[in-house]
Amino acid sequence: MKKQLTDINEKVLTLRDTEWQYRGEGNANLVLSLPQQRCVLRLRKHDSDHYVNHTDSTTDVHIDIASREALFCRMVMVPLLGEAYIQPPAVVVLDQREVEQLEGALHSHRPSHRNHKGIYSHPCLTYGMLFPDYALLPPTLSPVSMPHCTPTFCLEVKPKQGWVPEADRHLPRCTFCLNQFLKLRKGAIQKLSHYCPLDLFSGDAGRAHHALESLLASPQNNLKIFRDGVLVYGDGDEGTDRLELVLREWVGDRDGKNSVKWLVKKMCALVWDVLTCSLEVSKRPMANPLLGELEPLQNKGERVPSALMAAVTSLLPPKSCDWSAVPLPENSILARVLNVQQLEQIGADCVYWDYITNKHHGEYDYLQELVGGNICGRTPLQRYLLATTAKDCSIMLAFQRFEGNLNGVPLLPTKHVISDLDLQKYIFNVGVSDLDPKPASCVEKHRKRDCEVLTACLEILQCGSFGVSV
Ligand SMILES: Nc1ncnc2c1ncn2[C@@H]1O[C@H](COP(=O)(O)OP(=O)(O)OP(=O)(O)O)[C@@H](O)[C@H]1O
Ligand SMILES: [Mg+2]
Repeated sequence: MKKQLTDINEKVLTLRDTEWQYRGEGNANLVLSLPQQRCVLRLRKHDSDHYVNHTDSTTDVHIDIASREALFCRMVMVPLLGEAYIQPPAVVVLDQREVEQLEGALHSHRPSHRNHKGIYSHPCLTYGMLFPDYALLPPTLSPVSMPHCTPTFCLEVKPKQGWVPEADRHLPRCTFCLNQFLKLRKGAIQKLSHYCPLDLFSGDAGRAHHALESLLASPQNNLKIFRDGVLVYGDGDEGTDRLELVLREWVGDRDGKNSVKWLVKKMCALVWDVLTCSLEVSKRPMANPLLGELEPLQNKGERVPSALMAAVTSLLPPKSCDWSAVPLPENSILARVLNVQQLEQIGADCVYWDYITNKHHGEYDYLQELVGGNICGRTPLQRYLLATTAKDCSIMLAFQRFEGNLNGVPLLPTKHVISDLDLQKYIFNVGVSDLDPKPASCVEKHRKRDCEVLTACLEILQCGSFGVSV
């Protein structure tokens, strides 16, 4: 990777004369929007799992992290998911004093449970990444001659794992649905969500609508809605009244007569149409079969205690997640994300033993080969880590309603125009974010999480004290 590092020309960025807004943050990054540039600045936070193996604070290591993420995005994720859905980031450098002032100014905007992690900095410099702001339409889709200026609404979905390898289907529930028990046990949620990623990725419109409605009812950290780049629903700000206000403005009819039920139906249908439309034209990269790798990958022991698995199996009601699916429209964003998740076919147990046997490798050594051109991965571990990135990504859909007719608007690509159930027209765009490469140690992290999830399931199902219907 060192060689390609020279490809990245980082620019100095100052926010002094630039308007910025706090956009949001996850566990590892804090994001500011720069509305004039229609960009977001993504800054790494310190004290995250991601940095456990990067205690060295030399500038070199710091550049390595930013460059590695940018390269991975440009050389691996862009070809896998498609240029229509991601534009690679630019690495930028900020002055450390400016970042200190920024942290002070950000304090009141950040949720209190996030404030304990600051921005990760070298004593003099901070590296960040500039991405297009997917909550807005790109300049090419924002014609100045638009007759009426309506707000841009963006739906962000973190769809999670939409497919489970057969070898991992030990229980009647998928990874996401089982993880709900752990969230409940930890007090992060009060009730189990009805959202199941298998429904969203099933290729069946009815199941996908149910999945989207369930996400709206219980967004957790899987759904957010922005209005002109400002969060208006999700991340704690939710409720039926708020949702109605947002949907009425986004997809409602002009005289306000649409019922809430119809608004939800209309929005879900619109979102489903965009998730399954093919904006990408390039051919999907095909993975080669895992030749000669299977023999040494025999399962050599218990990754997760079988007694725990058996105990949970006996208590879980037989109602299963629906593993069935039909193909999604080729080159749609859902199909592309699913294809990357499906690079992992062999099952977590075998990958785990592969990882244990080859543990001497560095956390990100696997990227060398991917960045070098083998973008689908050649080994089970490489594919598992690629699939993990695709299980954690966010899909962002931006819509601007078009009032008036399209005839007067020059050069608007028709494939970016869509109608809702009431035949109102929207210009839309699709972007994918949060596509960082995962460290090899997440194989071990996932084993621990699976054990924790099963323990939480057992506790909840045994005592039934959480009053949940499962
Ligand atoms: N390119 C983008 N355009 C618009 N908004 C973005 C973009 N990238 C990130 N965001 C916003 O910032 C939020 C946090 O960013 P991100 O998901 O990258 O953080 P993270 O720490 O990697 O999250 P996680 O803990 O889920 O991995 C996102 O949920 C999204 O709302
Ligand atoms: Mg992330």
